[in-house]
Order: sequence, then structure tokens, then C-alpha cells
Amino acid sequence: MNNALRLALIGCGGMGHRHLFGLDELARAGFTPFTLVAACDPDEANARSLADQAQERFGSRPVVAPDLAALGSLAVDAVSICTLPEAHHRVGVEALHRGCHVMVEKPMALTARACNLMQRAAASTGRVLSVAENYRRDPVNRLAKALIEAGVVGQPRLMLHHTLGGGDAMLMSVWRHQRRSGGVLLDVGVHFADIMEYLLGPVTSVYAQTRLHEPVRRNAAAGQVLPGGPTPSGVYAKALSAMPAEFAATAEDAAYATFTFASGAVGSYLEDHASRGEGLWKRAVFGSLGSLDLPGDRSGRRLRLLRDGQEPVDDQRLLERVPDLRLDPATAALFGGERLYEYSFPFAETDRKLLATEYYEFATAIGSGGPAEVDGAQGARAVAVCYAMLESQRAGRPVTVEEVAEDRLNAYQEEVNAELGL
Ligand SMILES: NC(=O)c1ccc[n+]([C@@H]2O[C@H](COP(=O)([O-])OP(=O)(O)OC[C@H]3O[C@@H](n4cnc5c(N)ncnc54)[C@H](O)[C@@H]3O)[C@@H](O)[C@H]2O)c1
Repeated sequence: MNNALRLALIGCGGMGHRHLFGLDELARAGFTPFTLVAACDPDEANARSLADQAQERFGSRPVVAPDLAALGSLAVDAVSICTLPEAHHRVGVEALHRGCHVMVEKPMALTARACNLMQRAAASTGRVLSVAENYRRDPVNRLAKALIEAGVVGQPRLMLHHTLGGGDAMLMSVWRHQRRSGGVLLDVGVHFADIMEYLLGPVTSVYAQTRLHEPVRRNAAAGQVLPGGPTPSGVYAKALSAMPAEFAATAEDAAYATFTFASGAVGSYLEDHASRGEGLWKRAVFGSLGSLDLPGDRSGRRLRLLRDGQEPVDDQRLLERVPDLRLDPATAALFGGERLYEYSFPFAETDRKLLATEYYEFATAIGSGGPAEVDGAQGARAVAVCYAMLESQRAGRPVTVEEVAEDRLNAYQEEVNAELGL
């Protein structure tokens, strides 16, 4: 415990609290690579709430401060950034220059330019920069990746990622519907972009139509007294209740796109947070030998492999196709096995476990000198894929992920960069 890394959690809202629960879950699984020494947030009530819960769980209270600078001479080895996305690059660059290793929530930063600043700071300081991308760490997604690499569907030809639903309901917060804060196509889209690249490798080009279908969003929880408690919904309940019943949305809420992968495979991407009627979840990879159907992230449900003329396979026989697959020690301890094809926990528990694995991997990367699994380059790619869709709509043509990542195509992002002073 004494040589545990001294961690400051910066941003103590909903996700900051969920990170605390993740650290607690990791400790209960027998891993204590970090000691939480500081809770930073300009919203003092949020920082205090997090410090109170840390004291309850770990028996020691982190220092409460508005920001890293206010910590003075307190020694900090690593920071975990759970602020609003618009602050990620500023807080991240500052922390790196103070000599801290950084784990930052997705999206890595608000624009490609902001991501590049963070990558440069990580490179010049030699510190670890890790992006807290939780979906790929789901044991079922780990199995999917291993199966695709083992060739169970043959050469991948097509990936579908289709998610539809939402109507005019607010998605968790007002800021997720504002262009200056990224909008849902970035905030949610980076998870999907990361998974698509995780499974099939780099996306090279994107052609998209994007829309803002619902310019007014409604918050059904406004003014409601919702149950509290240390669950993700409890964490957000107070904030949701205080948010307006309806507000103007400025960020696009739907993207309909075709991706090309470097491998030659094609991606069909529908992300519509405004659709009405039938909701839809479909993620599948179709290859030269068959198809693999993937369940919702964090659901614990099974994959389904279909090969022509054979019965579908969705059980332990999937594991026989990947005899060498082993989850890392923390994931195995948290989820109950080194080789899993399903799991079943309440959502809040699954959420804690996945966040716990992020901390384990962050500490491992620091110990080995890096890089992290989702490093600055990969985190920035996910942001660039999302903006490639919005830039494609703006430019009226297919665009390359490279021109967006290198900040050569940025007309859509210009307004956001200007807001950020970049
Ligand atoms: N991986 C996931 O599953 C997941 C889920 C939810 C949110 N997130 C991410 O976590 C981040 C935070 O989201 P949230 O839902 O907690 O938002 P939130 O609005 O609940 O909390 C944000 C917190 O950041 C604080 N903050 C703002 N600027 C700050 C600054 N400069 N320094 C310190 N604190 C600052 C706010 O006061 C607030 O307490 C976002 O990047 C979001 O995309 C990830």
C-alpha cells in the first residue's frame, strides 16, 4: 500500500463518483495500485461528496480543492480526469507538465486540435497518457476480438453498428446536446468508434450524413425527487432533477455513415439518438466464412457465431476457438474467470468492474513505462472518426480520418476550437 501511486481525481460529478466506486471495487478484488489523495472540482459540493464517500470506503479522506494548482506541494503521481470534455485538454496538459501520469475519460478531448495538444504534452514529458475507454474492456468484447483475430468469420468484409432510439429525451445531461461541449455524436460515438477500430483495425475514410432532428430536448426528471445512494443513477439523480424540463439542443443527434477500414472491410454506421418507434441495437461482423453477432456493451450477454450449414454457437464452445485467450488478472478476479463468454451482474456492478480494470491497466502501464492500451494516439483516433462524420456532412464529400486527425480538415470544429481558444 505504501508504494501505491498517489492519485488525484479531477472532476467529481457523475463519472468522478463512478470512478471512485471503480477504485473501491478494484481494492475489494485485492488490487490497490492507487491511494486517492485529492478530489478536485470547482463545484465544491461535488468534490466534498466524493471525498466523503472516499473516506467511508477507504478510511482516509482525500484533500478537497478546486483544481490541481490549489493542491500546492501535495505529492501527486497520477491524475484521473473526469471533468466535462471541454476541460480535458487543459487539465491534461497541465497535469502532464506537472509530471503526473494522466488517465482521461473519453472523449479524450473536444476536438482533434485539443487531442493533438495532449499527445504532444505526453510525448514531451514522457508520462503515460491513457484514455478511459471502458467498452472494449468488457470480457465479451475481449472474446469477440480474439475470435475475429482467430479467423472464425474468415476475412471480415462488413461491420454493422446500428443504434437507434431516444426521441426527444435528454441523454443524461444538457451539455451532451450542446455543440460546444461535443454533443452526443462525440460523447457516445467515441465508444463505438473505438470498438469498431478495436475489432477491425483503423478506419481510413468516412462518408456521412448527420442531422439535428430534435432541436428541443426534454428532461423527464426535472424537479423530481429521485432515489439517491451510491449508484450511477443515484449519483446523477440530484443533477438531473436540477436540470431544466426542456432546453434547446445545438448538437447533431444522428449520423448515418459508411466507413472504410484499412483492411478493405466496410462499416455501416447508424447512430440515431432521436429516432422514434422501433428502437434498434445491432452490432455484427460479417466475413468470408460467417458472421459474429455482438450484444450491447456491458450487458454480459453472449456472442453468436453463425457459419453456413452449422448450428449457431453462443456458449463455451466459442472459447474452444481461442484456446490462448486469458483475461488480465484484475479482469479475471473482478468478473470471475480468465476465460468468459458471458457474465451477469447488476449494471452498476458491471460499471464498477470495468472502471476498476481501467485503473489496473493504467497502473500497469505506469509500472512498465507505457504505453497504455488506449493511448493518446488511439484516443485521438476515436475523436477523429466521430468528427470525420461531422466534417463529411459539412464538406459534402467522403473524408479521410487522417485529414481530420491531423487537423487539416476542421471547418465543423472551427467554432468549437474558437470557443476553447485554440
Ligand atoms: N465511460 C463512460 O461510460 C462515461 C459515462 C459518463 C460520462 N463519461 C465521461 O466522463 C466525463 C464527465 O462526465 P459526467 O457524466 O461525470 O459529467 P458531470 O456533468 O456529471 O460532471 C462533470 C464534473 O466536472 C466538473 N468540472 C468541470 N470543469 C472542471 C474543471 N476544469 N476541473 C475540475 N472539474 C471540472 C463539474 O463541476 C462536474 O462536477 C465526460 O468526459 C464524459 O464523457 C464517461
